[in-house]
Amino acid sequence: MASDEQLNLFDPVSFSEPASAPGFQPELIPTSAKIPIPPGTYRSTQELFPHCDRCFRCGLGNTRTHAVVERGNPQAPIMIIGEGPGQNEDEQGLPFVGKSGQLLEKILASVELDTSRDVYICNIVKCRPPENRKPTAAEIAACKPYLLEQIRLVDPKIILLTGATSLQGLLGEKRGITKIRGEWMEWEGRLCMPIFHPAYLLRNPSRETGSPKWLMWQDIQNVKNKLDEIRATS
Ligand code: URA
Repeated sequence: MASDEQLNLFDPVSFSEPASAPGFQPELIPTSAKIPIPPGTYRSTQELFPHCDRCFRCGLGNTRTHAVVERGNPQAPIMIIGEGPGQNEDEQGLPFVGKSGQLLEKILASVELDTSRDVYICNIVKCRPPENRKPTAAEIAACKPYLLEQIRLVDPKIILLTGATSLQGLLGEKRGITKIRGEWMEWEGRLCMPIFHPAYLLRNPSRETGSPKWLMWQDIQNVKNKLDEIRATS
């Protein structure tokens, strides 16, 4: 597709129509990562689906079954950003539905956080990297405009970054996750906290004081307390 045609997406006329409106042409998504997707492109996170499902801004589009956009409440106060879909997620088109997802649900439930009410879940990249490898910097960059739109639309009070890829992908933070997990940080005026990835906890099952699982328990309580505090003052 010619880049002129792709750029038509960003004509003011196109912007003024929701994606589901007659005339919406998902085939006009910018297929090159060099073409930006400006803030304000989408009116709801649902509108990302037809684009992400047809996206070839990076090579991951060639091997995906489904793009994986979101799960949970698009108005939730907490957004959780993972690394990228695995096999289960790719098959079902939903983030964190495999073993890591089951553990994540348990962690959230332990402080009475409910995914359908309090939490919105997504990933740094929307398509599964083959063999579950880490997404490359180029793949993260190609997908980032979608994530930025999700953040803008959900407008979460708290962003939780699970694992180093998510931390580095959004914040550009190079310090290791073990060093800075549990620290409150600010990004673009938003409150963020890096936390361990559930897959890491599955590989480290000890619950002893100071173990990764124990640290996660401290972190998630901290998050719940902060949310209660925010809710009490707003
Ligand atoms: N791991 C992730 O980072 N994201 C998912 O959606 C599933 C597993």
